Amino acid sequence: MRLAGKSTLITGAARGIGLAFAKTYVAEGAKVAIADIDEARAHAAALSIGEGAIAIHMDVADQASIDAGVAATADAFGQIDVLINNAAIFSAAPISEVTRQDYTRVFDINVAGTLFTLQAVAEHMIERGIKGRIINMASQAGRRGESLVAVYCASKAAIISLTQSAGLNLIQHGINVNAIAPGVVDGAHWDGVDAFFAKYEGKPLGQKKSEVGRAVPFGRMGVAEDLTGMAVFLASDEAAYIVAQTYNVDGGSWMS
Ligand SMILES: NC(=O)c1ccc[n+]([C@@H]2O[C@H](COP(=O)([O-])OP(=O)(O)OC[C@H]3O[C@@H](n4cnc5c(N)ncnc54)[C@H](O)[C@@H]3O)[C@@H](O)[C@H]2O)c1
Repeated sequence: MRLAGKSTLITGAARGIGLAFAKTYVAEGAKVAIADIDEARAHAAALSIGEGAIAIHMDVADQASIDAGVAATADAFGQIDVLINNAAIFSAAPISEVTRQDYTRVFDINVAGTLFTLQAVAEHMIERGIKGRIINMASQAGRRGESLVAVYCASKAAIISLTQSAGLNLIQHGINVNAIAPGVVDGAHWDGVDAFFAKYEGKPLGQKKSEVGRAVPFGRMGVAEDLTGMAVFLASDEAAYIVAQTYNVDGGSWMS
């Protein structure tokens, strides 16, 4: 029960890594608002967890929706102690095929979504004197570029940078901002990634996935549960002196 009594908002938690975080946080004693653009799936996720979880509709690309989701979570739980900025989308294309529309969509969700949800929750924490925790989801993709993944990689590099700036700015209020950089994590998200590579590298479906799994020093792709320990630790009292860091949890793929 390392998170007993902590009220938490997790964006993009209707499936995948965010859902694993929600389940683990509730098991550790937290209350969790599963905030997702997919309202039906968010409700199903909250039902599957049961007591301690609620569903909130939120589109992190829309400021009014962020404000409403933060207010709804604060109303339901009384306050917000922890935010996990997890919602994101993937895209891939060679540079010559990158479109302004795709760039804007990815940056609106992955970067602006993270920044302005962080801002709204930080304002809530500052107003109420809450010494809160904010965890952003970066990626190994933010540590270096990739030939076919320019826009997504740039969006995740921006998360590492925003984590540093927000971490330095908000620690004066007792709010710790840190990030987790996963490597390759199996799930519906990676099925989409695999399909992109099948299209652009002419590989059969599933081949890219097995290649990236074999390339991980640990010997396999990650699963969402590989990340939950770090997510609990960063929200726990033991992480109080950790500020503005991005932790690789990737089976040894990246060292920094
Ligand atoms: N899976 C991986 O290999 C991997 C690797 C590194 C980093 N990450 C990062 O981890 C996080 C979670 O990844 P995942 O694999 O669970 O992804 P996922 O695609 O399975 O889940 C993302 C969730 O975000 C929601 N979402 C999308 N747009 C939204 C919006 N505008 N507003 C609110 N919610 C929205 C989706 O409905 C979905 O439930 C993401 O930030 C991702 O970039 C994933």
